[in-house]
Amino acid sequence: MTCVSPEGRITPGCTGLYAPEHEVAWRRIVGFVHAETDAKVAIQLGHSGPKGSTQLGWEAMDAPLAHGNWPVLGPSPVAWSPNNQVPREMTPADMDKVRADFVRAAQMAERAGFDMLELHYAHGYLMSAFITPLTNRRRDAYGGSLANRMRFPLEVFLAVRAVWPAPKPISVRISANDWVGSDGITPEDAVAIARLLQAAGVDIIDVSAGQTSEAARPVYGRMFQTPFSDRIRNETGMATIAVGNIYEPDHVNSILMAGRADLCCLARPHLADPYWTLHAAALLNVKGETWPKPYLAGRDQLHRLTGRADPAAERV
Ligand SMILES: Cc1cc2nc3c(=O)[nH]c(=O)nc-3n(C[C@H](O)[C@H](O)[C@H](O)COP(=O)(O)O)c2cc1C
Repeated sequence: MTCVSPEGRITPGCTGLYAPEHEVAWRRIVGFVHAETDAKVAIQLGHSGPKGSTQLGWEAMDAPLAHGNWPVLGPSPVAWSPNNQVPREMTPADMDKVRADFVRAAQMAERAGFDMLELHYAHGYLMSAFITPLTNRRRDAYGGSLANRMRFPLEVFLAVRAVWPAPKPISVRISANDWVGSDGITPEDAVAIARLLQAAGVDIIDVSAGQTSEAARPVYGRMFQTPFSDRIRNETGMATIAVGNIYEPDHVNSILMAGRADLCCLARPHLADPYWTLHAAALLNVKGETWPKPYLAGRDQLHRLTGRADPAAERV
C-alpha cells in the first residue's frame, strides 16, 4: 500500500504519494519499468485509519511505535487492540480531507505513469474500518446498514474515478470475510459489497479476507481465500483477482481455468523468488514470457534444463 498522506501511513517505513518528491521518485521507477520491459505497473493507494502509527511489519506488527506516534482516524472510536490508540471519530471535514488526499494521490499516480490503480479497502485500514460493522458504530448516514457503511468508500472511489483516465482500470481490494461469524462481514456480504462497487463503476475486485479484527479465526490452507473470489465472480459477473496462499503454477492454472478468478496475485512467493513467474513459465514450457535482455542466456539454459527434466515437454 502506498499511503495518501503522512497520517495515513501504517508505519514510518511506508511508501507515500503525497509530496512532489514522491511523484518524481515514482515516475523514475515506472519510467524505467516501461522503458526496459513490457510489464504494466499498478499502484495500491490506501489510508491506514485505526491501524496507523505502528511498527514496521518485521518488528512488532500492528503495535504502536515506541516514540513519535501520530493521532489516528477511524469511523468510530474503536481501537484495533487494547494496545493501540483509540482513533478519533471522523468529522465531515476529516472525510473531505481524506477524499481530497486520495484524489491528489491518484492524480500524482497518473502523472507518474502508472497503468492501473488499486484502492485498499481491506485488512482493517480506514476504508475497511468503515465497511465492517465491527469498527463502524456510527449513527449518521455513514453507519448502520451496509449501504450506509459503504457510503464513504464509494464517495472516495467516485472522486478518484473522476480524475483517473477512463481507459485505465481501477480495482478495489476488500476483506471478503471478517472470520468472526455473522457479527462481521461474511462471504455473502462480500457479494453485496462487490455489487455496490460494480454499480459505482469498479472494474475489478481484489478478493482478500480478514485482518479486520483480533477476534478473527481464519481457516487457512492453500488457496484459502479463492472460494470468496469464485463466489463474487460467478454471482456478480465481475472480474476478480484471487490472492492468498497461492504458490504453485498448478494453483494458478486451476483457479483461472475453473473460472474462479481472472487474475491471481502472489505475494510471499515473489519475496522468496522475484522470478517466480518466469520460473513457472519455464517449468510449463511456455516460451512467451519476456525476460530482461541481459538475462536471456539464463532463460535459454533454464528452458533446456526444465525441458530435460520433463521428457514429455515439447521441445522447440
Ligand atoms: C511483506 C508483506 C507486505 C504486504 N503488503 C501488502 C500491502 O501493502 N497491501 C495489501 O493489500 N496486502 C499486502 N500484503 C498481503 C499480500 O498482498 C497477500 O494478500 C498475502 O500475503 C497473502 O498472499 P500470499 O499467500 O501470496 O503471500 C503484504 C504481505 C506481505 C508478506
